[in-house]
Amino acid sequence: MTTAILSALPEEQSGLVSSLENAQRVMHAGRSFWVGSLHGQPVVLALSGIGKVAAATTATVLIERFAARRIVFTGVAGGVGEGVQVGDVVVAHDYVQHDMDVSPLFERWLVPGYPGVRLACDAALSAQLAQAVHHCLATEGPGLHAHPAGHLPRLHQGLMASGDRFITCAQVSRALREPLLAAGHDVLAVEMEGAAVAQVCLDYAVPFAAVRTISDRADDDAHVDFPAFIQSVASRYADHIVRRLLELL
Ligand code: ADE
Repeated sequence: MTTAILSALPEEQSGLVSSLENAQRVMHAGRSFWVGSLHGQPVVLALSGIGKVAAATTATVLIERFAARRIVFTGVAGGVGEGVQVGDVVVAHDYVQHDMDVSPLFERWLVPGYPGVRLACDAALSAQLAQAVHHCLATEGPGLHAHPAGHLPRLHQGLMASGDRFITCAQVSRALREPLLAAGHDVLAVEMEGAAVAQVCLDYAVPFAAVRTISDRADDDAHVDFPAFIQSVASRYADHIVRRLLELL
């Protein structure tokens, strides 16, 4: 059964590509797909592209053209939940599209045609992913990211939000988070692709799970924290977590 590993950024994918056995690069829809085997499992590696539409196209190609039977997303996100700090890791239970609004015709944030505001990830695959993260943090945590305040990286599980906007301002982050919280949706982290992949995977009944390492707090420092984190830490997280997950599958 082919597992697709979607990465948001080349820095997060490079370690996976260099470990790929019998690697074959296939171009499709203007994208590179790397087919091969990783830690004994048949895989296809791809970059999601940035934003919801790019990620939805990539996910559709993975399913239709590369017969992916489960999709795992690894990437980074801005932490917005209480206590979700840079270097922590979030495994999504479900997703909301924070920029979807067809109110008053439909409930705010609902993608019409779907049963609820929250797009669910696969519970079993997400549990295995959380187990992989837990193992990595327990064995490698302090070596993976040295937080300036001595805080050890933690695993959080819950709701993530996606939208076509990089959040670099505390005021925008609050404006996004607070109405969702008031409606009972406690968002832990924001990024730009996961909800789109979740939606495609629901359409095809393909199990989906997502892990995001927190690169910034989606605040006024995000534009500085994000590139520094990508350069130094993101790929090491992705390598460790994916290896452990593939051993568990
Ligand atoms: N991915 C990582 N940080 C982010 C942010 N602040 N906003 C949106 N996507 C992100």
